[in-house]
Amino acid sequence: MDPTRLDGKVALITGAAQGMGAAVARDWAAQGAKVCLGDINTDGVAEVAREIRDAGGEATHVSLDVTSEEDAQAAVDHTVETFGEINVLLNNAGVNKPKWFLDVTRDNYDFIMGVNAWGKLNVMQAVARQMAKQGPREDYPYKIINVGSILSRDTFDDVIVYGMSQHAVLGLIKGGAKGLWEHKITVNGYAPGVVRTEMWEQLDKELVEMGKFDEAGESMDDIAENMILMKRYSYPDDIVGTASFLASADSDYMTGQLIQIDGGMVIH
Ligand SMILES: NC(=O)c1ccc[n+]([C@@H]2O[C@H](COP(=O)([O-])OP(=O)(O)OC[C@H]3O[C@@H](n4cnc5c(N)ncnc54)[C@H](O)[C@@H]3O)[C@@H](O)[C@H]2O)c1
Repeated sequence: MDPTRLDGKVALITGAAQGMGAAVARDWAAQGAKVCLGDINTDGVAEVAREIRDAGGEATHVSLDVTSEEDAQAAVDHTVETFGEINVLLNNAGVNKPKWFLDVTRDNYDFIMGVNAWGKLNVMQAVARQMAKQGPREDYPYKIINVGSILSRDTFDDVIVYGMSQHAVLGLIKGGAKGLWEHKITVNGYAPGVVRTEMWEQLDKELVEMGKFDEAGESMDDIAENMILMKRYSYPDDIVGTASFLASADSDYMTGQLIQIDGGMVIH
């Protein structure tokens, strides 16, 4: 690892209390980025930020519900007050709650679309307005990185609204790329497949309750065996390399792209 690869980067990372958001935050800080970690789990992000500082990195945290316009603005303001500017966003916060198609309710729709689609647009707007205010940089473009999913391009019958919301993330990447380049902002994303995080542990339990699998733990093994070319599911460490590529100068000439990291689960 090059500890200077992300020198000069100031990143707001949403959903950073656990899972992939926390893993990317640790990795970016170890490569020289200054990171502001936002999450509804304020104690969780405070703890991750403390760990990063203890390891010699620069990190702060903020209480953030991505569905709130006030919170999004406050997270941007806190980042700028702490580190002077913001030049990277990792739009990572997301939720899931599986349901068969005919069981989907308005509450299920509002909850998932609220966080995964509106929440991402909301934080993108607050960050992009700040980047526009800062004015274009000569040395590199500002970067917005949206976390999508394999379900941004395919979907499954047990996570209907989650699949819809991840298609919306792909729309935000394409629309953001076209709408924000006038401010020298690129918009890209990465799309994990099955990553063993708290989100999947919870999903695994709910899929048993829905009758899709018989036993806890079976879903990930079953998908790995039957649906993933590499025959294994992933961990956050499988994801961080692509995330840092998208934050680094190596991706400066890319915009509007969603990179799949799924062990060959969905190949287009
Ligand atoms: N785990 C997977 O297999 C997988 C696969 C593809 C995509 N993803 C996506 O990757 C991202 C990270 O997933 P993960 O597996 O690390 O999940 P996770 O559940 O472990 O972490 C998600 C974090 O988002 C936070 N969060 C939830 N709602 C929020 C809100 N309204 N405002 C702010 N923070 C909020 C949670 O508190 C949590 O800390 C999500 O967008 C998810 O949809 C996950």
